[in-house]
Amino acid sequence: MSPKGHHIGRMVEGLTRREALLSAGAVGAAAGIAGGGYALGRAESDNEPAALPFYGRHQAGVATPPQDYLQLAAFDFTGTTADDLAGLLRSWSDAAAALARGETPGGGEPSRELPPVDTGEAVGLSPSRLTLTFGVGRSLFLRGGPLGVRAPAALAPLPTFPQDALEPRWSDGDICVQACADDLQVAFHAVHVLTRLAGGKAIPRWSQAGFRGQGGDGAHRNLLGFKDGTRNLTTDADADQLWVGAGDEPRWMVGGTYMVVRRIRLLLDVWDLTSLEGQERAVGRTKVRGTPLGGKDESEKPDLAATGSRGPVIPSDAHIRLAAPETNGGAKLLRRGYSYSAGVDGAGQLDAGLIFICFQRDPHAQFVPVQRRLSRGDALGKHVLHVGSAAFACLPGAHEGGFVGETLFA
Ligand code: HEM
Repeated sequence: MSPKGHHIGRMVEGLTRREALLSAGAVGAAAGIAGGGYALGRAESDNEPAALPFYGRHQAGVATPPQDYLQLAAFDFTGTTADDLAGLLRSWSDAAAALARGETPGGGEPSRELPPVDTGEAVGLSPSRLTLTFGVGRSLFLRGGPLGVRAPAALAPLPTFPQDALEPRWSDGDICVQACADDLQVAFHAVHVLTRLAGGKAIPRWSQAGFRGQGGDGAHRNLLGFKDGTRNLTTDADADQLWVGAGDEPRWMVGGTYMVVRRIRLLLDVWDLTSLEGQERAVGRTKVRGTPLGGKDESEKPDLAATGSRGPVIPSDAHIRLAAPETNGGAKLLRRGYSYSAGVDGAGQLDAGLIFICFQRDPHAQFVPVQRRLSRGDALGKHVLHVGSAAFACLPGAHEGGFVGETLFA
C-alpha cells in the first residue's frame, strides 16, 4: 500500500490529521522520500509556521500574508432563531480552530455505523497556513431574520456602478466563509467540512476557488500579467483604515472589518491584442518590473504630477492614478484578491479573472468612492466585467473557548 493509502486507512481507525501528518513525515524520512512530508518540509524551509492560530483579537485571514489559494463560499442561512445562528457559528468556530491546527473536527473515534464528521480529503496534508474568516451579509439582518438587530450602516447596499453586469449566482449571501491555504485541497476541505457541519442550517449559495502566482519577490502577478498588490494598505501603519474602531457603531463589530468581494471577469481576447505600451499606460506601471511609469523602482511612490511631451507621464485614465489614495481623499483598501479560472464560455473565450477582495473599516468611505471613480474613467474598464458582488461584516476575532459572532448575541 502507498504511504498515502496507508494513512487514509488508519484515519478510519481514529488517527487525527496531525498524527497522520507526523506519521507521514516519519514514513517519508525513513524511506528517504518527500511523500506526505512535503508540505511540512516546505513550510519549515520557508521559515513559516504551517499552522496559524484561529483565535485572536482580529480574525485570521485579513492581515495574514496571503496564502497561495482561496476557497470562498457564501451561504444562505435557513435556521430561524438566534439560537440556531449562535449554534452554527459556535460549531463552525470550534471546527475552524481544529482545522487550522491540522486536526480533524469532532475529534474522538469515528463510528463505523455513521458517516464520518471529517470528510477525509485533507488526511496527511499539512495545515498549510489555513485561515478561516467569517462574515455576515446584510440579508441576515432583514426583517424576519434571526437576529433582531439592525444591519450596520456600513453594510448599506453597494450602489450600482456603470457597466456592472452582476449575476445573482455570484452575488450576496447571508454568511461568508473565506478559506485560504497554501494547498487548495486543504482550503476546499475546510469549506466542505463546514458545509457538512451546518446540517442544512446554512446552504451554499456560491463558491469560488482562486489562486495567486506568488513569485517570491513581493506582489503576485494577476492574469493580465501585471504585478498586483505593490501599493497596498499597510496593516500596521494604516490600521485605522482597516479595523472597526472602539468608538464605531455597532459595538459588536469593534475589532472587525468589512469585506467587499467582486468577481471581475477579464476580457483577455482584447487585452491580448493590446500593445505593450497600451497595456502599461492602462495600468500606469511597466508590465515586467511593475515600476510606476516614469519611475525606476517598483516600490517607489508613483509621481502623479510628472508630465512629459504627451501630457501626464501616468495617463489621466491610468488605473493606478484613479485608484490611488491621493485622488480619493486618502481612502485606502487592503486588497487581498485571487485569480480565478472557470473554463471556457460559449464563444470559445477563457472565463478567467480576478476574485477581487478588499477589507476596510467602511466600504462606503473606501471601496465605493474608489470603484465609482474607476467605473467612470479607468482605462482598464473596457477589459473587465464585474459579474459578482457581495459585502460582509467580518466579525471581530474570538478568544479560546468563545466563538466568532459571539458579540452579536451579547
Ligand atoms: C480585474 C480588475 C483589476 C485589475 C486587473 C487590477 C490591477 C491592478 C494593478 C496591476 C495594480 C498596480 C499594482 C499595485 O499597486 O497593486 C493595481 C493597483 C490598485 N488597484 Fe486594481 N485592479 C483591478 C480592480 C480594482 C478594483 C475593483 C479596485 C477598487 C475598487 C482596485 C483598486 C486598486 C488600488 C487602490 C490600487 C493601488 C493604487 C496606488 O495607490 O498606486 N483595483 N490594480
